[in-house]
Amino acid sequence: MSFKIPDGAVWVILGAQWGDEGKGKIVDLLSENADIVVRYQGGSNAGHTVSFDGKTYILHLLPSGIFHQNVTCVIGNGVVIDPIALMDEIEMVKSAGVDIKGRLLISHNAHLIMPYHKLLDKIYDQGEDKIGTTGRGIGPAYVDKYARVGIKVVDLLDREILCRKLRKNIEAKNEILEKIYGTTKLDVEKIIDEYIEFDKKIDEFVTDTALYLNNAIKGKKKILLEGAQGALLDIDHGTYPFVTSSNPTAGGASTGSGIPPTKINGVIGVIKAYTTRVGEGPFPTELKDEIGDHIREKGFEFGATTGRPRRCGWLDIVSLKYSIMINGIDKLALTKIDVLSELDEIKICVSYEINGKKLKNFPTNPEALSKVTPIYETLRGWKKDLSNISSYSELPAEAKEFVEAIEFFTGIEISIISIGADRKQTILK
Ligand code: IMP
Repeated sequence: MSFKIPDGAVWVILGAQWGDEGKGKIVDLLSENADIVVRYQGGSNAGHTVSFDGKTYILHLLPSGIFHQNVTCVIGNGVVIDPIALMDEIEMVKSAGVDIKGRLLISHNAHLIMPYHKLLDKIYDQGEDKIGTTGRGIGPAYVDKYARVGIKVVDLLDREILCRKLRKNIEAKNEILEKIYGTTKLDVEKIIDEYIEFDKKIDEFVTDTALYLNNAIKGKKKILLEGAQGALLDIDHGTYPFVTSSNPTAGGASTGSGIPPTKINGVIGVIKAYTTRVGEGPFPTELKDEIGDHIREKGFEFGATTGRPRRCGWLDIVSLKYSIMINGIDKLALTKIDVLSELDEIKICVSYEINGKKLKNFPTNPEALSKVTPIYETLRGWKKDLSNISSYSELPAEAKEFVEAIEFFTGIEISIISIGADRKQTILK
């Protein structure tokens, strides 16, 4: 089974909900026919799961095309890289027999996550207003990027510049750690020694990836831009402040890779058959009952990065339509419908009401979103095992009704349906 990607196609594959939609599986699947897969934002807060041949791998930084020898994987300028996590991951894929020589490129412009970013992430994200971050240093690293004091991959290649920038940063962070939070200071020299080591390891991968990608476009290569997290966690368009610190939305694919918007010719939104959210923030269709527990258990809804239980709820068409609008999604990939197979009935939220009035838009403001009442359509459950189904026509009538209801309410065609974790458990519609 393969999904045909036209020559010269540049497609964005992104999460259209609050993350964990199954992007890793879809990107891995499409990579069979792609030339290049690019990660464009986020960092090791992501956990993209890829399963094939009875094995499961969780990727945090490496693009999900890494298991296909035909694919060059690019970590774009928009990603924040934790060198420790990256080196561990490179070792993990190498020990799985993957040859990455000449197949992994890292942008010289990507920013680095430093030990103080991880420390500050945990210190900041506490108390009543906490966001429930992954604690991977993502927010503080982007803060430094935008404060124009961040350290980039290219800085690793020049010992003198790296030492100067690191010293300045660590001294400033030590002031905060000691004087405001009363914690122990970081050892500047130890961190410098550690990061100088990364220079030797990372050197062979570092390049001007924007130039590489634009040349690849001229050469009619097939390029997939892989988003991390989901559109509703977008720093600009998500449910701020309960968001991540980057742009998972389609616009981020351009700024985070150096591929101009005019060269992107398709956006695939990956959606799960239900909704999940990790961490804090409003979630109108959340199920705090036995159905929510059933979905969590059947769907293994525990964070791939942190192991935290995910909050589970019904599919929310209102948020989905918003996501389709801000991303220009033209195709949907629907994952995990098998998780719903035992339910008698399945609900999808088709509108919101607030004080008895129907809302026209998805309110991103958490105060407003937490006040909406979801209005549901109830569909029949199919109550059949889907694991051995290989074509759309074989799906039970009720499962087709579910798929078609999503298409009807969103106005977007579902091209890929995933019925299990394995690469093979996929229906192309
Ligand atoms: P951060 O990205 O670690 O700063 O976390 C900010 C918010 O985004 C928290 O609610 C996290 O749980 C959520 N988040 C970050 N990465 C992911 C992901 O890959 N999947 C789902 N939620 C995520």
